[in-house]
Amino acid sequence: MTEPLRYRLTLYPEPVLRKVAANVPAFDDDLRLTVRAMFDLMYASNGVGLAAPQVGLEKRILVLNATGKPEDELALVNVTIVERTGENTLAEEGCLSFPGIYAEIKRPERCRVKAFSPDGTPIEREFDGFVARIIQHEYDHLEGVLLVDRMSAADKQRHKAALQDLVDRYRSRTAAAARSR
Ligand code: CO
Repeated sequence: MTEPLRYRLTLYPEPVLRKVAANVPAFDDDLRLTVRAMFDLMYASNGVGLAAPQVGLEKRILVLNATGKPEDELALVNVTIVERTGENTLAEEGCLSFPGIYAEIKRPERCRVKAFSPDGTPIEREFDGFVARIIQHEYDHLEGVLLVDRMSAADKQRHKAALQDLVDRYRSRTAAAARSR
């Protein structure tokens, strides 16, 4: 039996979080292992959604589960949001790449998505409510857009120290990695 893949969360401001992710070329076992490992890390981190750049991959894959029930798992590969509709609604969001930081973010209440399942089955569906919000948050990751870009100036100010702390931690990690080379 092969060892399951294990990923580590990428944290703001790691550069991969700013990349525009590319389509996955093949619906193969590697993709299915990647998706499973993303779900595993998402659950282990108590998250409801995770995008591939958050595990260091520049790929258009996102996974989510709004309820935590196995039947509500959703993995979207090569995903595009084709339409956003409904009222803009404000709700609090967190992000596994911004531990401890929460902000009220405005998003349309519905989105229509075109994607593929990990086995290559085309998906075209409209989502609303919490699921639509998760999808839009994770989709932002595929475009290199982050929570910090969507939060209000007031929230950015409120979280200034926490954001700076993440930057400082990133700098000391990269400095330590450079020393050990
Ligand atoms: Co996020």
